Amino acid sequence: MIAAIEALLEKAIGLDSVSVGSATVRRAVRRRMESCQIENDDAYLALLGNSANELQELIDEVTVPETWFFRDLEPFRLLAEYITQEWVPANEGRVLRVLSVPCSSGEEPYSIAMILADIGLERGRFRIDAVDISTRIVGRAKRGIYGRNSFRGDEGDSRDRYFKKVDENYELNESIRGSVNFRCGNILDDVFLCGSEIYDVIFCRNLLIYFDRSTQSRALKKLHGLLTSNGLLFLGHAEGGCVDNAFFRFVRHSGAFAYLKNIPPKEYSISRNPPVQVKARDISNVKIKSPSRKVPIPKSNKVGMLSKSDLTTVRTEDDLIEEAKRHADHGDLALAVALCEDCLRNYSCSAPAYYLLGMIREAEGNSILANELFHKAVYLDPKHYQALMHLAMHAEKQGDMRSGEGYRSRAQRIITMNDKRMSGSSKS
Ligand SMILES: C[S@@+](CC[C@H](N)C(=O)[O-])C[C@H]1O[C@@H](n2cnc3c(N)ncnc32)[C@H](O)[C@@H]1O
Repeated sequence: MIAAIEALLEKAIGLDSVSVGSATVRRAVRRRMESCQIENDDAYLALLGNSANELQELIDEVTVPETWFFRDLEPFRLLAEYITQEWVPANEGRVLRVLSVPCSSGEEPYSIAMILADIGLERGRFRIDAVDISTRIVGRAKRGIYGRNSFRGDEGDSRDRYFKKVDENYELNESIRGSVNFRCGNILDDVFLCGSEIYDVIFCRNLLIYFDRSTQSRALKKLHGLLTSNGLLFLGHAEGGCVDNAFFRFVRHSGAFAYLKNIPPKEYSISRNPPVQVKARDISNVKIKSPSRKVPIPKSNKVGMLSKSDLTTVRTEDDLIEEAKRHADHGDLALAVALCEDCLRNYSCSAPAYYLLGMIREAEGNSILANELFHKAVYLDPKHYQALMHLAMHAEKQGDMRSGEGYRSRAQRIITMNDKRMSGSSKS
């Protein structure tokens, strides 16, 4: 039965069961069968085939809503720079249109709204649409009430400025809440946002990793059609490998995975991949001034692209990892691996290098090697949250729920510790 449900989910939402793990799908199905008080597999499969509501419930159960405010921070900094230095001067009197898909419980689109407010853009000057497939999650987003877990990034003093503490939670102020329009939608639907205006900026982070290759192309084609010419697209870490250079051009900005829209020649088909000369303006070369008002400051601010010949020069661990990430995201996995290995030659205890190598091996489909590399990362840095989560998912895919649970609770403890540290420092 699981194979049939996996096929159904792949058709409905592009879910790649290899990325998500059959064990995750199995758990979600078990929970839904319990809720519906159905014990027979065939009866549940029949219900799924006949009831759009039940399919939606299963989708809600199986999707991963993990998100937090100012996740990765740098994309938000780049957004502020792009808007103040590129978009505003070129678009006098126009309303900026931003799309966040998938928006999950709202932390991403609300972070965008806070950044736009911080750079002084008036409420009527921008419009943010936020879409997710899960009705339950969108309901939560609209409420705008968040627990500590949603503040595990580098949100600066935004929590103090935009939220009110209510018991153990934080309630977002009305002006930010009112600037985001939430709705449910499936990015893979033919009619997804049909008839809507096109967007100047799209955030589509941490979705493509759950799709197989052809579904990723479908989604990217859709996003390309939804962007204005020269619009800006943000993807998540390690999602750049599926971007076609003819359709999008990588923007150099340390820690952000952003692309400018290209218009490919008419006869060009999305399945081909020749090098194409593009004329779109390259904002990566623009000298960036700090935005006028308060934007959270990143922890590190290292810039610069490595060429292959740079590999002979000894650079800091952070520099090498940042460059390796950028190349990995750009799809140049061989150079990314070379940079990680170079990093390990110079900094043999680099957990980030082992972690990134793990991500690359996983993207290449070598999950056994990836798992070994995640183990090394955790051995060197027992508080490496992402590596622990990968180990958890790997164990669960293998059906080893006990180990999976163990890694997950270690990861959870790290978040709890960070929360406590943050609340301690905000009190002092
Ligand atoms: C990990 S969250 C990403 C949230 C946010 N973009 C971020 O990076 O923090 C993934 C979200 O994708 C949503 N999702 C999964 N498949 C989708 C689809 N086909 N269309 C729209 N949203 C989808 C899930 O409901 C989940 O909330």
